[in-house]
Amino acid sequence: DWTPDMFIENTVAELREKIGNDKVILGLSGGVDSSVAAMLIHQAIGKNLYCIFVDNGLLRKNEFEDVLHSYKDMGLNVKGVDAKEQFYSALSGLTDPEAKRKAIGRVFIEVFDQESHQVEDAKWLGQGTIYPDVIESVSVKGPSATIKSHHNVGGLPDFMKLKVVEPLNTLFKDEVRIVGKTLGIDDTIIGRHPFPGPGLAIRILGDITPEKVAILQEVDHIFISSLKKTGLYDQVWQAGAMLLPIQSVGVMGDERTYERVVALRAVTSVDGMTADWCHLPYEFLADVSNEIINKVRGVNRVVYDISSKPPATIEWE
Ligand code: XMP
Repeated sequence: DWTPDMFIENTVAELREKIGNDKVILGLSGGVDSSVAAMLIHQAIGKNLYCIFVDNGLLRKNEFEDVLHSYKDMGLNVKGVDAKEQFYSALSGLTDPEAKRKAIGRVFIEVFDQESHQVEDAKWLGQGTIYPDVIESVSVKGPSATIKSHHNVGGLPDFMKLKVVEPLNTLFKDEVRIVGKTLGIDDTIIGRHPFPGPGLAIRILGDITPEKVAILQEVDHIFISSLKKTGLYDQVWQAGAMLLPIQSVGVMGDERTYERVVALRAVTSVDGMTADWCHLPYEFLADVSNEIINKVRGVNRVVYDISSKPPATIEWE
């Protein structure tokens, strides 16, 4: 029978054996998988694990600072890299979703390659690949997929010539969560909703600017903290807000406004392959909508997405 304690004991022993005194580089994303993979490798080899956490400027509000602190508290040797400008400049003027994803994947690889050169003599690349990623790598559209799809092409970035170590590649998501809990990883990381690698870039329809990111971060923050405050967060599989490329007429006092529209999305799902829209209570939606419109300058209308997957996808891009 599978138990988390036995999994951890065996995996740590295997990792120690396999890696020995070599150095490992690992890219943390703030998500469950990379965090649990890092903690397992850390238990096996300690300071020889070098983690890199990249701020792509497309994360949630305060996410970079908060998550970096949690990682440091967990004892991980982690370097936070501020690459916001590189990502914004690569995204400038791009509107096509796949073009945005490609640009983000490319910059991520550049930044990661650059950072990996700071770790002299690294031999391994640690990854948080889980079993479903192995069997249906088609469903992953993010930077990690970009990395994989580049594997067979010539002119690889140097870090891709490293040997790969993937301690979670036999586990399903719920098992990863149990292992993470057993390792003592904080609930704010373990219970975290999935968040796409390209981040807010695929929730801002059309071109990306730092101003739009700032607006969406505020909207998203109000929505997500309200879900947490009301205890609804754990009943939802994934939630977020989309900044739409349209303006609508409104009134404020005696003034006519012509401002942005945001769409809220919350779904229940098992694996993200299919999903139902969440029947969030009307009172909750009313409060969130009021708070967004009152607090976020530049937004005068909030709509709620009532589409399920299929045929709609979870993200709008
Ligand atoms: P869709 O929109 O395809 O999303 O229904 C299913 C799940 O995948 C996530 N997603 C992504 N994750 N890179 C990622 O790492 C991506 O480009 C990407 N696109 C979608 C989405 O957030 C949902 O959890």
